[in-house]
Amino acid sequence: MLKIAVFGAGHLGKFHLNNWKEIGGVELVGFYDPDDKNANEVSEKYSLKRYTDVDSLLRICDAVDIIAPTIHHFELCESALRMGKHVFVEKPLANTMDEARNLVKLAKESNVKFQVGHVERFNPAFLALKNTSLQPVFIEVHRLAQFNPRGTDVSVILDLMIHDIDIVLHLVKSNVNYISANGVAVMSDTPDIANVRIEFDNGCVANLTSSRISMKKMRKMRLFQKDAYIGIDFLDKKAEIIKLHSPEDKDVFVFDIATNSGNKSIAIASPIVKDSNAIKMELEAFRDAIINNTNPPVSVQDGFAAMEVAHQILEKIGQKQIQ
Ligand SMILES: NC(=O)c1ccc[n+]([C@@H]2O[C@H](COP(=O)([O-])OP(=O)(O)OC[C@H]3O[C@@H](n4cnc5c(N)ncnc54)[C@H](O)[C@@H]3O)[C@@H](O)[C@H]2O)c1
Repeated sequence: MLKIAVFGAGHLGKFHLNNWKEIGGVELVGFYDPDDKNANEVSEKYSLKRYTDVDSLLRICDAVDIIAPTIHHFELCESALRMGKHVFVEKPLANTMDEARNLVKLAKESNVKFQVGHVERFNPAFLALKNTSLQPVFIEVHRLAQFNPRGTDVSVILDLMIHDIDIVLHLVKSNVNYISANGVAVMSDTPDIANVRIEFDNGCVANLTSSRISMKKMRKMRLFQKDAYIGIDFLDKKAEIIKLHSPEDKDVFVFDIATNSGNKSIAIASPIVKDSNAIKMELEAFRDAIINNTNPPVSVQDGFAAMEVAHQILEKIGQKQIQ
């Protein structure tokens, strides 16, 4: 049995605890959370021992799951790595680039498994496209949320947009050539809404908008590529593909459109989206990487790459505000 220790049992931490309880091959050995009221409730509800000292809990586990506020990610990851424990840490990897850089170095030296919680990689709508060739030349993303003081210890870029930055980097696999960005702080001390254009060396352009002060929620990504439009709805868990029809297409609805060069057949496909639990899947993937000695699906380098782009965005926004 793999012994798991949880650090941070707040809003998301409780979802993690619920999932760990359902995952085979692991044993929850305890949790650490400095908030007495919350910790007492968690201890009772999950019949789980609370530790009030980080090192004592680290000593008795094989792997940690860190779901504390971002400003504490570095100190907790560092302590775990120094004790040779496998690490799962929520996104964003860390609060500053120096911290993120240090974690990449420490993780490499420690020779343990390290996974970052970019959970949208496990979103069933995204997984439904795993057999579709995704080679976008233009990406349009909207991630809009209603205001919630949770998460406002960091900007909307590190809180929400980082999910999309990770997916975009995962899809495009080319170096970032140029970033332009604008954003504004409305309800908190850091940007609450931002619009960003990322140009890649291979010519792809991604246009991302994130807001945590919207009236309605939305999490949509639209990919435009040579022969197709692909829509991914991360919130409503739907995917659709609209493309030029080819004889190999299966399970598509086909219709014709008249153009100057004759009729074009268009095919619409709605890939089957399985009803799955993304958090459970990412935690199972972490367990499997440890047990089978394989690479975790979202590595510390992936977490670092997303942060690097996020910090370039923040710099661009900061420069505009100084002018
Ligand atoms: N992947 C996602 O979609 C997603 C969604 C929400 C939050 N998150 C991330 O999860 C983390 C926690 O977010 P949340 O919404 O659960 O916040 P939260 O404020 O609800 O919970 C944080 C908990 O951590 C505890 N805590 C504070 N300092 C700590 C420390 N030093 N060590 C251990 N625990 C500590 C707090 O007492 C609290 O109970 C953040 O990094 C956030 O970015 C990720």
